[in-house]
Amino acid sequence: MPHIRKARRADLADAEYICIQTASGILRKNDKMEKITALMFSSYYINEETEHCFVLEEKGRAVGYILCAPSAKRFARRYRKDNLKRIVELSPLWAFLSFFTPVKYSLLGGKYPSHLHIDILDEYQSSGYGSKLMNTLLEHLKEKGIKGVMLSCSADNKRAIAFYKKFGFKKIISAFGSTLMGKNL
Ligand SMILES: CC(C)(COP(=O)(O)OP(=O)(O)OC[C@H]1O[C@@H](n2cnc3c(N)ncnc32)[C@H](O)[C@@H]1OP(=O)(O)O)[C@@H](O)C(=O)NCCC(=O)NCCS
Repeated sequence: MPHIRKARRADLADAEYICIQTASGILRKNDKMEKITALMFSSYYINEETEHCFVLEEKGRAVGYILCAPSAKRFARRYRKDNLKRIVELSPLWAFLSFFTPVKYSLLGGKYPSHLHIDILDEYQSSGYGSKLMNTLLEHLKEKGIKGVMLSCSADNKRAIAFYKKFGFKKIISAFGSTLMGKNL
């Protein structure tokens, strides 16, 4: 039976796999792009924000996660420092684009200091595990006294947007194919 636990650095390979398997479109165009996708959306969090991340585990492997960076300021400093070097080696263009990833979180960091990513492998979706992961993280952030959480999602991911609305996330803005949503805690 799958259960939720705090993430560990040893979950990195599983988290990168989940990130790639649940990505779509250009993010999975080829092997190189899949590596970049994992670096952009999962590796940093497991390596640098381990204590704020949770995984859904079954039979010793992670099959879903909720990843979180609690501070936009810290994220901007560290994400660029560690991740960009590795992305540059794969693609200078994507390194340039990901240089701007922290900007949206920094601009809204006064109201929503933290941000999250949630993904679950196909066969474990729609069984209530996403809700359990979300409740676990929201409780964790409240305990830490963090006043708001935000996320960025593909604007056409209607299912994820319905999921976030159920937890009280409100749309902040939709632009360039992405929707930003936020929730006060
Ligand atoms: C989005 C996601 C995290 C939700 O987790 P989940 O375990 O599937 O969701 P739950 O079973 O806890 O369902 C909670 C709510 O999500 C929505 N939802 C879940 N499955 C759905 C489906 N098949 N169709 C439409 N809405 C669905 C509903 O609002 C549901 O509420 P309900 O149970 O009252 O009907 C998960 O489906 C997922 O990883 N999807 C693929 C990756 C992704 O899109 N990640 C988000 C990127 S921004």
